[in-house]
Amino acid sequence: MIKTELTDGVYTITVSRPEALNALSPDIIEQLREVILAIQERLGVGTPDSDAGDTDWGIRGVVITGEGDKSFVAGADIGAMQQMDSATAAEYAELADELTEWIAELPVPVFAAVNGYALGGGLELAMACDVIYASENAIFGQPEVALGVIPGFGGCVRLQRFIGAAGARELILTGKKINAQEALRRGLVAAVYESPEAVRQAATDAVKALSANSPLAIAKAKEVIAKVSLLETHEALAAERAGFADCFDTEDQKEGMAAFLAKRKANFTGK
Ligand code: CAA
Repeated sequence: MIKTELTDGVYTITVSRPEALNALSPDIIEQLREVILAIQERLGVGTPDSDAGDTDWGIRGVVITGEGDKSFVAGADIGAMQQMDSATAAEYAELADELTEWIAELPVPVFAAVNGYALGGGLELAMACDVIYASENAIFGQPEVALGVIPGFGGCVRLQRFIGAAGARELILTGKKINAQEALRRGLVAAVYESPEAVRQAATDAVKALSANSPLAIAKAKEVIAKVSLLETHEALAAERAGFADCFDTEDQKEGMAAFLAKRKANFTGK
């Protein structure tokens, strides 16, 4: 099952299937899709008014974690996949790919609080998030080649964006697993915390802290970072410039700069 909780603007999603180390069965993927769609709806994603202050900013960020102290998500469900033919596997991957794209496109920051194994589809779920925090016991890898398949939920695409092509090729072709400190050294994770409980707390605190900033500026930054990551420098600079200029049509920009100059705290309305 998927557990959700909204407290102080932090929307926490817990993948809870501990008997299978939180592996992503088709049912779990379906439930995650429903949860992310509901958040999108609340945040006005895809509605024409979403830039016009119609958004419900009651959600300021999302934390995705796994149940328990052993595993974030141990991958796609091997039992469910064993008998799949190529057509069914393509459908399974398409549902998961849509899910990861929806997560990446949320206008609020999404933190993965990785509390143990993040293997295969688990690492792919984490990499759909903006920031990955890990606990000391976290283990990362794309071990699909050991099962006779390749990463299917975005690993071939996103791992090289996180850690570069050389490291991604090494991890995917060897199926090697790395621990939290190695993931930190390679730039896959942003920070490491001593325990699963501490990593969840750190992600929650990060969302609470960023809630003091302009939600519109954060959403715009996410949009621009996603847009420019595949463009040539010249085109990318133009896209960033356009996003920067868009911010100047918002009340948040006027308020943020006025508050700085008046030496007071900004009161952002997300408009
Ligand atoms: N799918 C289904 N069940 C899984 C699972 C998975 N990905 N990972 C673990 N489980 C189940 C185990 O079968 C076991 O179930 P039973 O108790 O019923 O036997 C239970 O979870 C506990 O697992 P282990 O007994 O294996 O626990 P362990 O501590 O000995 O080992 C582990 C932990 C190293 C993570 C090991 O479970 C493992 O290697 N899991 C598979 C990891 C993997 O290969 N993930 C990639 C899947 S392919 C993929 O994700 C493709 C893609 O890109 C879309």
